[in-house]
Amino acid sequence: MTTRVLTNIGELTTNDPSLGDESDLGRLYDAAMVIDDTHVLWIGQNGDAPAADERLDVDGAAVVPGFVDSHTHLVFGGERSQEFEARMAGTAYDGGGIRDTVAATRGSSSNELRAATSRRARALQASGVTTMEIKSGYELTTGGELRLLEIANEFSDEVTFMGAHVVPDEFLHDRDGYVELVVGDMLAHCAPHARWADVFCDEGAFNVDEARTILLAASDAGLELRLHANQLGESGGVELGLELGVASVDHCTHVSDEDLEALASSSTVATLLPGAEFCTRSPYPSARRFLDADVTIALATDCNPGTSYVTSMPFVIALAVREMGLSVDEALWAATRGGAAALRRDDVGHLGIGARADVVIIDGPRAAHLAYRPGGVMVSQTIRASR
Ligand code: NIG
Ligand code: FE
Repeated sequence: MTTRVLTNIGELTTNDPSLGDESDLGRLYDAAMVIDDTHVLWIGQNGDAPAADERLDVDGAAVVPGFVDSHTHLVFGGERSQEFEARMAGTAYDGGGIRDTVAATRGSSSNELRAATSRRARALQASGVTTMEIKSGYELTTGGELRLLEIANEFSDEVTFMGAHVVPDEFLHDRDGYVELVVGDMLAHCAPHARWADVFCDEGAFNVDEARTILLAASDAGLELRLHANQLGESGGVELGLELGVASVDHCTHVSDEDLEALASSSTVATLLPGAEFCTRSPYPSARRFLDADVTIALATDCNPGTSYVTSMPFVIALAVREMGLSVDEALWAATRGGAAALRRDDVGHLGIGARADVVIIDGPRAAHLAYRPGGVMVSQTIRASR
């Protein structure tokens, strides 16, 4: 095991309130940290830094925990730039384009899908992501969803079965038949290859009753639950998510005050995905409203070919600050510790002693540069535990 000391950290965000200034961000200035191949061993002032096998002088840079991207659809074939251009010219998003990606994905070889997923995973990592969730959902057959999960498992331990993304073309006149397939054969084959199950519960996808049936079956099959909810309207998805105690309700573009009150008194995280509002030219939800209601929020990329072909967490942070009313610190917390909460993880999203050594060195003296310089390459180095 090699130990490494990072010295001359201008601003260190640990997200551990027992450290530094004892705020939620647990912040230290003129700091140092020691990690080994897997964990954080020591945090303190630069002048007190102990010796280690290797030394990395970061020259006054800001250091933050690796980003936790708790919502991606990374495994897909094809692309939908024409749909994007049509939307920018005024066409509304209704989820229908998902079927185009299903056709393109079914027509891709496993090696093509693997290579495309690898490019996107590397782009996310270069933007500072050290933990990423990956969903299936673009084949919508038993063998196809299984294939996507197997590829997703090559890139992450946080893999989600999403056979209920939309009803595929061949079942358009037999919705019930598709739900039966998902809860039967598909779940039986896919559950061993995933930690999570997710459903797109919205107008144009699955209604609340269908989503409940699928999620209950997934839970019986041993999967933990998360849910796409209230992206296109007040679909009742948030209420369903709370009824089932899901780890996270994602999108939440349209929520009522009652939804927020109920979320605040639950352990369910609301994951906001401003890349989707950006790429569908939709009104952003106010993240401020969630925080004022005491709801725990996460920020994620939602990387997918339709609504958010976004592979940069700093871009998501910048959108959340500029368009959703968060301070930089609130957005940074949501993209790290918030994402970890959405994945029910307490070993990532912070740099407390014993946390995983997932560390991002910012190209700038303060984490605020993440939002202050939108579109720039904000990460000079990403360190991932064991990698
Ligand atoms: O999170 N909302 C459902 N699923 C994706 C969009 C998928 C697509 O359009 O291909 C999302 O936005
Ligand atoms: Fe999504």
